[in-house]
Amino acid sequence: MLVRPRRNRASHSLRNMVKETVLRPSNLIYPLFIVDGENTKEEVKSLPGNYRWSLDLLLEEIKECVDLGIQSFVLFPAVEEKYKNSTATYSYHATNFYLKAIKTIKDKFPEICLMSDVAMDPYSSDGHDGLVRDGKILNDETLPILAKMAIAQAEAGVDIIGPSDMMDGRIGFIRQELDEAGFKNTAIMSYTAKYASAFYGPFRDALDSAPKAGDKKTYQMDPANATEALREAELDTLEGADFLMVKPALNYLDIIQLLKQNSDLPIAAYHVSGECAMLTAACQNGWLEYEKAMPEALLSIKRAGADVILTYFAKDYAKMIFDGKLTI
Ligand code: PBG
Repeated sequence: MLVRPRRNRASHSLRNMVKETVLRPSNLIYPLFIVDGENTKEEVKSLPGNYRWSLDLLLEEIKECVDLGIQSFVLFPAVEEKYKNSTATYSYHATNFYLKAIKTIKDKFPEICLMSDVAMDPYSSDGHDGLVRDGKILNDETLPILAKMAIAQAEAGVDIIGPSDMMDGRIGFIRQELDEAGFKNTAIMSYTAKYASAFYGPFRDALDSAPKAGDKKTYQMDPANATEALREAELDTLEGADFLMVKPALNYLDIIQLLKQNSDLPIAAYHVSGECAMLTAACQNGWLEYEKAMPEALLSIKRAGADVILTYFAKDYAKMIFDGKLTI
């Protein structure tokens, strides 16, 4: 036998020498849920280890994460039912606690990269990402609402706007409105290929944002489709997106690879709540080993082509490196 691939696997140092994929904490974005009020830290039952934080405690949590090497966060608001209505007006209202939180976080931690969520669902009495009329999700009528939300978040100081709504034309619309309002340097990470997935359950529990009627299949993509993701990617690129995102991640590694090979924009992948919950549940049952399975799952997403990963495991991953349990 002349050729023996095992020779390059013989020792830790050799394996490290030929390692093709490296996942650094700086590649990760940590999703955090925020509620109005004080001194609150409620665990999301279906997503153990994740909480609805009030701002005072969230600031301490962010400090802890920053000390572990995490530089980027995405913030989602859990809004009280009384502030929800059919047009999501609270999303850009001056008294919105989410906007105040963005400002406070950026004042306290100017060096971090903070990303927002743009979609109507956390504020909508219908629980949909767009405006609902007669059971239909209206596209063009939703765009001005999303743009108002984006401008309010940009004013509050967010670094990256994250439209997660999947309305057609929203990236171009939001980009133009942001520019006209003077926010030329606020980036947009488009949820480009966001699928109508069954893996968002724990997230909807966290925000109490599930649709009141119907599903999201008329705007989110069909899990059966791949070529259509290229079409979405082309549009978002032309409309001025700074990042393209695939969501979910682990079940959609082929889509991540497809976009990476066909785009010169950075590709992000959202390792969604249901994907994280599955792994956590298996580990809690003793069926998988968390400190081995979790880094392997994240590495797989990076290897498929994601430059950036949004994951609820970000803190644990960074902590493993910080504690010297994982070398990268
Ligand atoms: C909604 C939104 C969802 C997620 C992020 N933004 C859920 C949905 O589309 O219903 C899911 C994230 C996750 O599951 O972790 N705009």
